[in-house]
Amino acid sequence: MRAYYDQRAAEYDEWYLRRGHFAMRPHTERWHAEVALLRERVAQFGHGRLLEIAAGTGWWTEHLAPRAKVTTVDYAPAMLAQLQSRLRRHGLHAESIRADAYALPLALATFDCGFAGFWLSHVPYARLHEFLSGVRRMLRRGGQVMIIDSARTEPEHQPGVEYFQERILNDGSQHQVLKIWHTPQTLTSTLAPLGRVEEAWETGMFFVGAIVTVE
Ligand SMILES: C[S@@+](CC[C@H](N)C(=O)[O-])C[C@H]1O[C@@H](n2cnc3c(N)ncnc32)[C@H](O)[C@@H]1O
Repeated sequence: MRAYYDQRAAEYDEWYLRRGHFAMRPHTERWHAEVALLRERVAQFGHGRLLEIAAGTGWWTEHLAPRAKVTTVDYAPAMLAQLQSRLRRHGLHAESIRADAYALPLALATFDCGFAGFWLSHVPYARLHEFLSGVRRMLRRGGQVMIIDSARTEPEHQPGVEYFQERILNDGSQHQVLKIWHTPQTLTSTLAPLGRVEEAWETGMFFVGAIVTVE
């Protein structure tokens, strides 16, 4: 999966923008409206030192960096290069560290907030404890974490269940990626080991999110 995302970095934002392969997908207007709703939520979140895990091209960093001192972590160098160039274009700043989300090489309990976009749905249940306990160690007690991710959009998607999704990149290469569709309920139960789930919501069709206070 790490190699897949490194290869996908230059075309990743086509998913948000509904361009390229994604231009043919249905409900485009609704998609853009829900991306805008998510953006409003994200732009209101965070303060102090914020850790963004698996930050990708920085699509969300752009909306976190105006309020917080952000440290971004991602394993794919090409993603971090996209992220830094986005921030430069917007006159923003965030530190970037190439690291594994399961082994965060950062000082303990130094972050006030955490954020991860479209990452949790790629964390296999066998590694969930490893991931969540790593995040817990990075945050101060009482710190808040926002998680946003993909909602179940098709009836055949079983929420909360792992499966391998086939992904095709613009060069025609095919990849199998572990994916879990979420509802506010499955997100709440998945995040419960991290602390108190303050709210879990959905934007309508495409996205879900939650805020957890670390205990
Ligand atoms: C679906 S993308 C999400 C990117 C971004 N957070 C967003 O919401 O647009 C998943 C990201 O996880 C990164 N990634 C994959 N495996 C990782 C790992 N073990 N540690 C850190 N990042 C990883 C990928 O490089 C990619 O940027």
